[in-house]
Amino acid sequence: MSAFTADWLALREPYDAQARSRTILDAASAAFADRPLLRIVDLGCGTGSTLRALAPRLAPRQHWTLVDNDLGLLVRAAEAWHERATVVTAAIDLVRDLEAALDGPVDLVTTSALLDLVSAAWLERFAVEIAARQLPLYAALTVDGRIKITPSDPQDGAILAAAEVIHRRDQGFGPALGPDAAARLPVQLQAVGYAVIHDNADWQFGPNDREIEIRVLESWAGAARASGRIPAPEIAAWLERRQAQAAAGGLTMQVGHVDVFAAPIARR
Ligand SMILES: C[S@@+](CC[C@H](N)C(=O)[O-])C[C@H]1O[C@@H](n2cnc3c(N)ncnc32)[C@H](O)[C@@H]1O
Repeated sequence: MSAFTADWLALREPYDAQARSRTILDAASAAFADRPLLRIVDLGCGTGSTLRALAPRLAPRQHWTLVDNDLGLLVRAAEAWHERATVVTAAIDLVRDLEAALDGPVDLVTTSALLDLVSAAWLERFAVEIAARQLPLYAALTVDGRIKITPSDPQDGAILAAAEVIHRRDQGFGPALGPDAAARLPVQLQAVGYAVIHDNADWQFGPNDREIEIRVLESWAGAARASGRIPAPEIAAWLERRQAQAAAGGLTMQVGHVDVFAAPIARR
């Protein structure tokens, strides 16, 4: 089982849907405007968030293959529904068998909230493998490290820096790129002959978004603790202050992500 629980994915999905760049969604949609049928493979699908976001904008007939290595999430993904889409799931470990996930008749590769978990070596392999198959890519919600919490707290910088150490740990793909992935992805894709557009896709939390604010603050505090870089009582005091502010509707938070649409130049 992965660290990504279905309840966390359900909590974040409406914020992800709001954050996804309309420019990038429109680009993906326009690239396939004349296609009556599309075959799409979604990597690290979770419960099917990307299908729900993208299917209304794509061809009248779509065949989605939803890929994950978490069998519990795949059971839920199998229920992902859109009137234009047929859905199959595939239990594939993208570290071991990325190539198997991309083989077969595929018109578009999609992924969301996955690429900051992967290593530089895996990202390069991914770019090479999709380029070898001349596959366009919609890659949403890659963390880019921009975080703004208002009002600020003197401990924010230290806590977030400590949490980032953990986010860069191996998540199964080798040392994770974490927030470097957002800048690395376009470069890697351009190097294998893709035209790339990218746009910010930030989470925006306000006074009514207490539950997700508290979950995100807890996850940063947990990661900062795991880093061992800050005394535990300081982290606990920071979390208590921040939770109280969030609970009182007194926080706004912006968490930076980037969306990308990329197509092989030869196809254009
Ligand atoms: C942050 S979640 C994103 C899920 C979904 N794309 C979304 O946006 O809601 C990352 C997903 O990648 C999957 N994942 C992580 N490592 C994987 C691997 N080695 N092979 C296949 N899937 C993996 C996790 O199980 C999880 O569903």
